[in-house]
Amino acid sequence: MNIIVTGGAGFIGGNFCHYMTEKYPDDVVLCIDKLTYAGNMETLAPIMDRKNFKFFKTDIADREAVYKIFEDEKPDMVVNFAAESHVDRSINEPEIFLQTNVIGTSVLLDACRKYGIKRYHQVSTDEVYGDLPLDRPDLFFTEETPIHTSSPYSASKASADLLVQAYSRTYGLPCTISRCSNNYGPYHFPEKLIPLVISNVLNDKPVPVYGTGENVRDWLYVKDHCIAIDLIIRKGTAGEIYNIGGHNEKTNMEVVKTVIKALGKSEDLITHVSDRLGHDRRYAIDPSKIHNELGWLPETPFNEGIKKTIQWYLDNREWWENIIKGDYQNYYEKMYGNRKTIS
Ligand code: NAD
Ligand code: TYD
Repeated sequence: MNIIVTGGAGFIGGNFCHYMTEKYPDDVVLCIDKLTYAGNMETLAPIMDRKNFKFFKTDIADREAVYKIFEDEKPDMVVNFAAESHVDRSINEPEIFLQTNVIGTSVLLDACRKYGIKRYHQVSTDEVYGDLPLDRPDLFFTEETPIHTSSPYSASKASADLLVQAYSRTYGLPCTISRCSNNYGPYHFPEKLIPLVISNVLNDKPVPVYGTGENVRDWLYVKDHCIAIDLIIRKGTAGEIYNIGGHNEKTNMEVVKTVIKALGKSEDLITHVSDRLGHDRRYAIDPSKIHNELGWLPETPFNEGIKKTIQWYLDNREWWENIIKGDYQNYYEKMYGNRKTIS
């Protein structure tokens, strides 16, 4: 089978390319990535020489280039990870989120219609459901929860989901959508909470916690997400949506303190800074559908996954130090320079 994986030079797509090329030596993974600030060839370096891996530096919104790849490679499946993925960036500059997340998705869907496909899979997010109140731990996102977005990022991801559903119903395109909770693990870009905390703590820099730090995220080890997507594309039913999450809710403050403790540093590094605009309070997935229908359950508990992740960042300092030495400095200054410290 030929499988197009878009966004494979990023965090989750990269982990997925590693996972798939190792697990299925007879399938070919065709990675399409524009190599934005978040794309990193170092993430793919360990698999670049595998015979079942090919890389195309291409923008998913570039119709001509995408059609050419479909024509030449005749893919059987597409798994679309490519996206602008950071909420804070979407608050500052929404437009590129629409271009990549919505227009890019529409180009891929058109290519699938034109050339035929066995399955198109859209990697979506639990953020399309909006947020849940902190004082209702009994509430979870199910696949029936209405879409109710908060940020330009989640609005763009929800728009892409609606397009996928439209192509599925109108043109009968065999599509699936997965909506996963927050991932963590190796190759995670250091603008996101967990790798940002690890890299700041290792450099004895203040750890910025937005607002009170009481917001809740439902953390999943990235390999468990890859396993779930692999199951959905092979055994999931076309036309269906699958939520992915492992009932692992933590407040941001709990996560920050866990990392600081594991690295043997002081909690004095914690600095409360002004809150994210429109900050979602709590995400929590009900994963019963993927468990009951496909038998998926997460394999890596948080205490094990976070240890493995921290160890990976200790063992691969060059990977993240190269990132934070570059443009990231300007990004950090822009994002955090003006954030007020609150006591
Ligand atoms: P990431 O930002 O680490 O990687 C995104 C990748 O997409 C990068 O390699 C980038 O170069 C590439 N890309 C961006 N624009 C492109 C374009 N126009 N054409 C081709 N490639 C392009 O993101 P991630 O955290 O790995 O997320 C991957 C997907 O999973 C996204 O669709 C995101 O919405 C979804 N998701 C992420 C999480 C999470 O916790 N990170 C949780 C649920 C869902
Ligand atoms: P993030 O990793 O950006 O993921 P998302 O916003 O998609 O959930 O942020 C996770 C949580 O951590 C979110 O509640 C915002 C918070 N956060 C901080 O408190 N400080 C930070 O520097 C960052 C990047 C995030």
